Amino acid sequence: MTGQPADVSRAAELLRAGELVAFPTETVYGLGADAGNPAAVAKIFAAKGRPADHPLIVHLPHSSHLERWAVDIPAAAGKLAAAFWPGPLTLILKRHPAVPDAVTGGQDTVGLRVPDHPLALQLLREFGGGVAAPSANRFGRISPTTAAHVREELGESVALILDGGPCAVGIESTILDLSGSEPRILRPGMLDETSIGAVLGHAPASGGRQDAPRVSGSLEVHYAPRTPLRLLAAAELAATAREALAAGRRIAVLSAQPPAFSHANLVCYPASSEPARFARELYASLRALDALGCDLILVAAPPAGEAWRGVADRLRRAAAGSK
Ligand code: TXA
Ligand code: MG
Repeated sequence: MTGQPADVSRAAELLRAGELVAFPTETVYGLGADAGNPAAVAKIFAAKGRPADHPLIVHLPHSSHLERWAVDIPAAAGKLAAAFWPGPLTLILKRHPAVPDAVTGGQDTVGLRVPDHPLALQLLREFGGGVAAPSANRFGRISPTTAAHVREELGESVALILDGGPCAVGIESTILDLSGSEPRILRPGMLDETSIGAVLGHAPASGGRQDAPRVSGSLEVHYAPRTPLRLLAAAELAATAREALAAGRRIAVLSAQPPAFSHANLVCYPASSEPARFARELYASLRALDALGCDLILVAAPPAGEAWRGVADRLRRAAAGSK
């Protein structure tokens, strides 16, 4: 697990040979394959245990590659790319006919982004094409934010893991659909609606619509630890922890204000009260809490407000997945 220039060259070679390479991005680690090679893309689905009709994001070295992957590109795409790429924004556009069905899940749209991580950009430039990459976790599990997480999730099924250290953003990119009649956020992330709206000149729509393209991240069971997880108002947390402890259960707590008492069966993890840091630490914290083997993880619900929307979305799914 390395990140030297020689490893980037080796990784680009492996991609050309149709192999899988895990690489860091600013959001989470991706499990990459040559997006132009359906047999290579098929290996992603096998390694993740992911249903084959779920579309993948294609990672590009530069926004000038957009025309190779999309058609009917609206002016908004160029503006957003200029403002936010490289960065944690995925654009859904009408697919170019050359994009393999294996990448789009057979849909008429494709997800594209230029990631903001030096190793990812080096790899993409050296490879020279599009790299299809979902998060490098097993299907339905917590996304990896370190190279060690990728190894835990995927082990030997990946030829090489480029190690770029912990991811700076920590939750997946904001997904904006530009293929319909109006821009719509399909998955909130740390790039918020106000920033996107400022470039578009109006606020994007958000939330699902009936004919929305499939987003596997919108399945309720996503991002779940194995230990049941409950999301609670911060004020209810201590009382709920006491009750569960009284019932003999072992409890892990993730909160900026942990309960003010201690107990042999209670483990508290500090959470940041600042959204960017909370997001950066979230998945590693959930993994660590999961590994404690407690009966229940209690998480204090984040405050309302736009800055917390991406984090709130992932926590809600983690809680839904453990019912
Ligand atoms: O930050 C990220 O986006 C990370 C890093 C590795 O780039 N990738 C990521 O990939 O989160 P994945 O596969 O775990 O989630 C990508 C999401 C899925 O929910 C997928 O359904 C959606 O993007 N997606 C991809 N192509 C799409 C399309 N054509 N229409 C709608 N959704 C699409
Ligand atoms: Mg994922």
